[in-house]
Amino acid sequence: MKRDKMIVVNLSTRTRGVQAMREDLERDYMGGEGVRVRTSTMGNSATGFFTVMLCCMVLVISGCTVSSKNTLTILYTGDTLGSIDLCGCSAEVVGGLTRRAGYIKSIREQAKNILVVDAGNVFSNAGLQEQLKADLTIESMGAMGYDALNLGDNDFVFGADYIIKTARAHDVPVVSANIVYADSQKTIAAPSHIVTFDGLTVGVTGVAAKKYTDDIIEADNTTASDLSVTDETEMLQAHVARLRAEVDVVVVAANVGLGEAKTLAKTVEGIDVIIAGHGIDEISVPLRVNGVAIVKAGYFGENIGNIRLTLDTNKKIISTDGELITLDADIEEDTDVRELFERYYKSLEGYKDELFDIPQQEPAEGGYYAGGGSCESCHGDYADSWRNTPHARALDSLAEVYQDYNPECVDCHVTGLGYLGGFERPDLTPELAGVQCEMCHGPGGEHVENGAKPSGAITFETCIKCHTETRDPAFDFETDKGFVDHNG
Ligand code: HEC
Ligand code: HEC
Ligand code: HEC
Ligand code: HEC
Repeated sequence: MKRDKMIVVNLSTRTRGVQAMREDLERDYMGGEGVRVRTSTMGNSATGFFTVMLCCMVLVISGCTVSSKNTLTILYTGDTLGSIDLCGCSAEVVGGLTRRAGYIKSIREQAKNILVVDAGNVFSNAGLQEQLKADLTIESMGAMGYDALNLGDNDFVFGADYIIKTARAHDVPVVSANIVYADSQKTIAAPSHIVTFDGLTVGVTGVAAKKYTDDIIEADNTTASDLSVTDETEMLQAHVARLRAEVDVVVVAANVGLGEAKTLAKTVEGIDVIIAGHGIDEISVPLRVNGVAIVKAGYFGENIGNIRLTLDTNKKIISTDGELITLDADIEEDTDVRELFERYYKSLEGYKDELFDIPQQEPAEGGYYAGGGSCESCHGDYADSWRNTPHARALDSLAEVYQDYNPECVDCHVTGLGYLGGFERPDLTPELAGVQCEMCHGPGGEHVENGAKPSGAITFETCIKCHTETRDPAFDFETDKGFVDHNG
């Protein structure tokens, strides 16, 4: 990922927001491993089922049962990349940590022996707000009871010390077997972590690809020269062999891309499950390579994966099945994590001087913003009809969810943020709240001042600056225009 490009919080990235991040990410990753892989390995889970049936029959005959202590459920995530909350703009938008937490809680109510692992790349950009979000992310992961967080190249944007300390503060165990301090060659976190369940032990280790060394070192802005990345295959060979002798199930979180995860499955002996990270692939049913189950949860926190292992009484895995769950509106949000989010949103007003220190530039169309109030004297009827549209109340919608001071939200919910004469901050320019006339008709400063013609016709392009694919997937220009053209 071109982080330097993303760190710069200029206005165009602000306005383009998540949509643009997604496009950048897809473009950057596309070259490598290809688009979404929704591979179906039906045979695998079906075979598993029959194996269990057969085993049950054999076991029943021999007087045993497959008891619940012989199952392990692994819930996995990865490549969240700072996409931690739903904007609430539209019911179709998926993802978010509150739904993720809700799902994890629901599984904890149904099953025991649950391991929760993240393959890495939880953060995205540097900057004050991103760091506040990073704190919130790790705190939420603590609340969800994560058993292991592997470090990916993006997790160093606030420095190695930050992620290690923050994770420790919130009881999120970090694993990383091949990122080391250059001088001592000691790993920056525990190379592996053993989780003991009722009658079952699981070892989790994690790596990031050595080929991401430059990204890790560049991103690590505090301890930069101190880090280096050792060969992930060699490190895994050593740590997996050690774990294999100690535990029943060996899980590897691998921030290496899907292609390399497959290679690791073939070359490193003794792995049971690889949770792959890095890249946009998502795998709906576990892949099986050389007897190793490989899974990957997609990106931007849209999904959570669930893989279930059934073990016989000798702790040998006899079947594997699983699926990827899209975190859509059917998944209930966790109220505890929602509270953490609300606390964060309410805190943003306290950072208003830093967060809204946005320089104003001339609009692309030229001129400046005059504000809707200045149109009323001549276009009173139009103003009346506009007031009946949700556009007039767009900033109130943010205030209702405590996000009127969230710079990630306001630009589509106000008038002219970042442009001459435009919105600055809720407390400084309340008269520019909402999506006013000029957001559709163009900056009207000169039209008001000297009767210059306001800029051009209203087209699809006018609307999709805000009604983007991610914010309003159901947007239909012809139909929706009918609601705003002042004839309604
Ligand atoms: C002093 C009165 C006055 C004010 C204030 C004023 N307008 Fe106008 N506006 C006019 C007149 C007169 C016309 C029609 C003449 C023309 O087409 O240029 C017009 C035309 C328009 C048109 C149609 C242009 C077209 O292509 O036919 C739009 C859109 C418009 N105004 C928007 C605005 C907006 C937005 C504001 C506030 C920022 C505003 N006006 C403020 C007087 C005003
Ligand atoms: C500056 C950003 C922005 C622009 C430009 C914009 N909208 Fe919106 N629109 C919004 C926001 C934000 C809301 C939600 C307001 C609320 O409920 O708080 C919204 C709501 C709506 C709604 C009501 C909700 C729905 O989807 O049924 C319609 C209809 C709509 N816009 C149509 C349009 C059309 C058509 C255009 C282009 C001519 C347009 N908008 C341009 C931001 C924008
Ligand atoms: C890229 C532009 C854009 C950004 C950025 C944006 N929104 Fe919106 N928002 C919209 C549009 C467009 C709508 C109307 C969508 C619709 O009606 O389907 C909307 C609607 C909403 C609504 C009203 C939903 C309803 O049904 O009443 C809320 C609440 C909201 N957004 C919250 C947020 C929050 C919180 C953020 C920041 C995390 C945010 N928005 C960022 C464009 C945006
Ligand atoms: C969400 C977008 C949107 C907003 C906000 C909006 N309008 Fe419009 N306006 C339209 C559309 C659509 C038309 C229909 C003409 C067209 O399709 O080009 C229109 C037509 C007009 C016209 C007549 C232009 C003509 O060509 O006949 C005027 C004048 C006007 N609007 C003024 C205003 C004023 C004043 C405001 C603010 C109080 C406002 N509009 C807010 C979308 C918008």
